[in-house]
Amino acid sequence: MRLTWGFLPLAATLAAGVPTTTTTTASSTMPSVALDYCTVVAAVGNDSLGFYRYQNIRFAAPVTGDLRFAKPELPLVETEINYGNIVSESIDCSTSEDCLFLDVWTPANSTGKKLPVLMYVYGGGFTGGSKIQSTPEGLFDLSKDFIFVAANYRLGFMGLANGPTFEHEGGASNAAVWDVTQSLEWVQKYISAFGGDPDAVTLSGFSAGASQVMFQLTRFGGRAPQLFKSAYIMSPGYVPGAGHHQAEAYWQNVSTAVGCAGGDITCMRGVNYTTLMTVGSEVASNSSYQLQPRVDGNIVADTYEAQLYQKRFNFTGPLVISHERHEENSQNPSTVTSEADIVAELQMYFPAITEDVIEEILRLYPASHYPSAGYRLADIRQGFDMTGKNLALTQALHNETWNAIVNIGEATHGTDQTYYWYSTYSTVPTNGLGDSSSSSVNVTLARTMQKYLLSFVQTANPNTLWSDDKIYWPKYGNMTNTISFNTTMSITVDDLANDKSLFWNKALWY
Ligand SMILES: *[C@@H]1O[C@H](CO)[C@@H](O)[C@H](O)[C@H]1NC(C)=O
Ligand SMILES: *[C@@H]1O[C@H](CO)[C@@H](O)[C@H](O)[C@H]1NC(C)=O
Ligand SMILES: *[C@@H]1O[C@H](CO)[C@@H](O)[C@H](O)[C@H]1NC(C)=O
Ligand SMILES: *[C@@H]1O[C@H](CO)[C@@H](O)[C@H](O)[C@H]1NC(C)=O
Ligand SMILES: *[C@@H]1O[C@H](CO)[C@@H](O)[C@H](O)[C@H]1NC(C)=O
Ligand SMILES: *[C@@H]1O[C@H](CO)[C@@H](O)[C@H](O)[C@H]1NC(C)=O
Ligand SMILES: *[C@@H]1O[C@H](CO)[C@@H](O)[C@H](O)[C@H]1NC(C)=O
Ligand SMILES: *[C@@H]1O[C@H](CO)[C@@H](O)[C@H](O)[C@H]1NC(C)=O
Ligand SMILES: *[C@@H]1O[C@H](CO)[C@@H](O)[C@H](O)[C@H]1NC(C)=O
Ligand SMILES: *[C@@H]1O[C@H](CO)[C@@H](O)[C@H](O)[C@H]1NC(C)=O
Repeated sequence: MRLTWGFLPLAATLAAGVPTTTTTTASSTMPSVALDYCTVVAAVGNDSLGFYRYQNIRFAAPVTGDLRFAKPELPLVETEINYGNIVSESIDCSTSEDCLFLDVWTPANSTGKKLPVLMYVYGGGFTGGSKIQSTPEGLFDLSKDFIFVAANYRLGFMGLANGPTFEHEGGASNAAVWDVTQSLEWVQKYISAFGGDPDAVTLSGFSAGASQVMFQLTRFGGRAPQLFKSAYIMSPGYVPGAGHHQAEAYWQNVSTAVGCAGGDITCMRGVNYTTLMTVGSEVASNSSYQLQPRVDGNIVADTYEAQLYQKRFNFTGPLVISHERHEENSQNPSTVTSEADIVAELQMYFPAITEDVIEEILRLYPASHYPSAGYRLADIRQGFDMTGKNLALTQALHNETWNAIVNIGEATHGTDQTYYWYSTYSTVPTNGLGDSSSSSVNVTLARTMQKYLLSFVQTANPNTLWSDDKIYWPKYGNMTNTISFNTTMSITVDDLANDKSLFWNKALWY
């Protein structure tokens, strides 16, 4: 690998279409980085801004044709210089098949440095989101001593196809998880060329993206090299889709609907991408299929909560993990009005669930604790979809974790995101959760949360930096210490340390 950090004269190389290392005056140039398979030129940024963005770097070969439904492979050698405009900066995997690109954000003059790296995985229920969902402009206001990386991963039908026939035909299940592994391997190999330290990578994520961090923690049941040093997990959420029967029915139903009855993978590789994505989500929604990563005995060896509970993972921390007080339980699903409705919902989420397990759930969440059946189900859902996993991970790491509860406003799923990604300006088109110049944000609190995050990224401890601006955040320990993010910051006890969480972590529906 050539580790060069030259200045490329933009106009000249565009015209010639060949790499050159000629240096011209800084005003007309953008910095560039030459890797062993491509040369990338920053697309956005300047010295007065203090940072640059290298965007749309391929970290895998296009996942089209024979590579549809396959594990990601190494990117091909590129002869053209990549100025970041080969595709739109907002390219995502729910509308483009050839979507495995990543962005690297570096401070100005990071060459030759060994800066800590914050790698962020977006959320979006495994069906939406992209690498520009949350961007670090606001964080760079506080410090320029880190590098930020965000990578796309396959979504929906392309990222989650699964089941016995699919695998028998040679498909790679849970491609969405393989893609994140591939982007982490890319960081290990190449981030030093941008001034990053591959031994100081913090993997962070929100919602489905936080789940991606947990899928990496438990990858291959812990029998695999770990590709990051620390993790900062925000509201992990996924509904563990259980069982081969459902996965098989889903692959077969989609195959039939697109004219490939029987599920022949060659036939399925010939179907129009947009058609497959549309039909894939329609069939899922028609049959209430959980379009989520599911156990394949391989990269997802078991549900991640079960693997954490059973101590099958390869990670020792440091780690931060958080949830919002009312991730889901303040929302009353109006279609659920009786206990029978609750049972039907549980059978929908967990097709193989047995009666005694349903009874145990109903006992753990007594009707008398809730104003309605809808709220009762919403709290049950909050447990298995969102919060139950946090206790499994905390205990798996011997309580040596930093835990947080987000207690801001309504404190529903995602409330914290406008705080962590608060910025007075944006250099990307707005794309949902990440755009956070929102006027409703308490800026002091947003900056405080950003300081905990950056302190963790830079020192592996949320307390070290800006210690005068924040309260001390103790580890969980035996007291179940949990910081409460609120305009009145405080240390409280964990509301998840209970039988309900432990119950979900055994995954008895499986
Ligand atoms: C630096 O980049 C920012 C964002 O693109 C832009 O607003 C600003 O004008 C640029 N400054 C200079 C001196 O080029
Ligand atoms: C980066 O280096 C250039 C050339 O030495 C210098 O002019 C510029 O001020 C530096 N920028 C920053 C943000 O340190
Ligand atoms: C766990 O990850 C570390 C760090 O990458 C690696 O050295 C070790 O071999 C991994 N353990 C297993 C069982 O693969
Ligand atoms: C597959 O189709 C059958 C027949 O229409 C239906 O009963 C079943 O719910 C579908 N399952 C999935 C997972 O799509
Ligand atoms: C796939 O179908 C979509 C929508 O019908 C269409 O716009 C697109 O051109 C098709 N793509 C190919 C490669 O045929
Ligand atoms: C999904 O259900 C709708 C409404 O019943 C139906 O029109 C549509 O054909 C179904 N889609 C698929 C792919 O089965
Ligand atoms: C802070 O938390 C308290 C206790 O949960 C709550 O009553 C209050 O509304 C919260 N403040 C804000 C600004 O959300
Ligand atoms: C914003 O939060 C800070 C503490 O983080 C608090 O002191 C201040 O009162 C809050 N402002 C408003 C308007 O709630
Ligand atoms: C973790 O904390 C819980 C709750 O206090 C306690 O029951 C458990 O023994 C602790 N585990 C370790 C390894 O200290
Ligand atoms: C925490 O609790 C565990 C289990 O009871 C005990 O072994 C350990 O010594 C305790 N740790 C501290 C720091 O009190």
